[in-house]
Amino acid sequence: MHTIDMDLVEMTLDVMKYTIDRISNITPEMGAPKKEEELFRIVGETVTPEGIGGENAFQLFRDVLVKATVPIDHPRHLAFVPAAPTRAAIMFDLVTSASSIHGAYWMEGAGGIFCENQAMKWLVSLTGLPEGAFGVFTSGGTAANLSAMVAAREEWRTRDSRNVGKKALLLTSHGAHSSIQAMAKVIDADVVMIDCEEENLTGRELQNGINELEEKDRNRLFAVVATGGTTNAGIIDQLDTIADVCEKEQVWFHVDCAYGGGALAAPSVRHLFNGIERADSITIDPHKWLFSPYDCGAVIYKDLELAKNAHSQKGAYLEIFKDAGADGFNPADYQIQLTRRIRGMPLWFSLAMHGTNKYRQAIETGISLAKKAAKKIEERENLELIRPASLSVVLFRRKDWTPEQYKDWTYKNHREGLALVTPTSWKKETVIRFCFINPDTTEEDIDMILDTLG
Ligand SMILES: Cc1ncc(COP(=O)(O)O)c(C=O)c1O
Repeated sequence: MHTIDMDLVEMTLDVMKYTIDRISNITPEMGAPKKEEELFRIVGETVTPEGIGGENAFQLFRDVLVKATVPIDHPRHLAFVPAAPTRAAIMFDLVTSASSIHGAYWMEGAGGIFCENQAMKWLVSLTGLPEGAFGVFTSGGTAANLSAMVAAREEWRTRDSRNVGKKALLLTSHGAHSSIQAMAKVIDADVVMIDCEEENLTGRELQNGINELEEKDRNRLFAVVATGGTTNAGIIDQLDTIADVCEKEQVWFHVDCAYGGGALAAPSVRHLFNGIERADSITIDPHKWLFSPYDCGAVIYKDLELAKNAHSQKGAYLEIFKDAGADGFNPADYQIQLTRRIRGMPLWFSLAMHGTNKYRQAIETGISLAKKAAKKIEERENLELIRPASLSVVLFRRKDWTPEQYKDWTYKNHREGLALVTPTSWKKETVIRFCFINPDTTEEDIDMILDTLG
């Protein structure tokens, strides 16, 4: 399987040509899903005892299967949280795979982990966390949130043995991402959601939420999760006053910045995150607003030792990694995975190549596109801005439209290959949501989409 034959050479040329063409194309064809039966009818069985050949398999992918996907980096893909990995990061993703580095322990992965840690050092510096804080790359925001929750609960149980065996409880707001509830389920913890009158969670509301807990529930409270940029509206909780309450109540303070974390690098909005430097843990997704290819999340801890107490795995065959001869930073000790792709490497290469200033500029572009879109919306008779643009999210309504009309509009634009923009709900009303990430999106792209709203 590993001998270099002509088939492999041809396949490699195909792959490189495809990759170069694809990353040079800033407006790739907007694909759309097909039913599985239909795809099967076109490509047939691809995994067979003899194999169908690399050229053939690649052709099926290039000519059929990739067309049944939506390129997340299309400049008019403004739905969910899109992404726009840099060309440098994509190319280095290939290098990451080719280098076959095991990213769990320093002993095997030192050179690669060094690269990851250089990128991590910059991320940590954006948070303002004190000396000693550090983090590790994960498969995404969900895994980062889970890793932080596991560390928080372990600290809560280690601190007071009466908490061992108690079902833990965390407080968050209605704006929190669905992964918070989902991961609480994984660790069998309860979640209480606080309604935010002022849209972002404040320390006062958090304190009221804690005061309203029955004593038995207050005794189960192990963490508060605030959001640094809600996915739906780009809202940042009032981190400073939340930090005050967490300190006073002695509960772990986690900030989920999976989407908004990139904006920590943007001077125009950095002040909105004040208080984040007092967090116990932070989630940031480089595969969202830091232009990394999938998948790349990050979890950062104020006190790494607490994470190690929770995550370090023990096994006879792993003992060598703890030996002085293999001494170094072991990513496996700080998050839920053992074997892991060294997924911070593409981010590192791109940061090293472009420098952090380019990142600042690209993130500021997303923020500025959101402001420009908001202004254009205000200038159009048939549209109404719901709230000012926040980070890179814009929410607005098309006057007099029903939820059905929003849905039809989404599908029509997608079918015609123009754009992917999806509706969301805001205070129970169906509205349109733009989320800007791609710095190649232009004002003309925004106009093209707004023009389809009649
Ligand atoms: C605020 C927030 N947290 C967590 C997540 C989950 O991240 P991932 O999809 O990388 O697991 C998202 C995803 O959009 C998010 O926006």
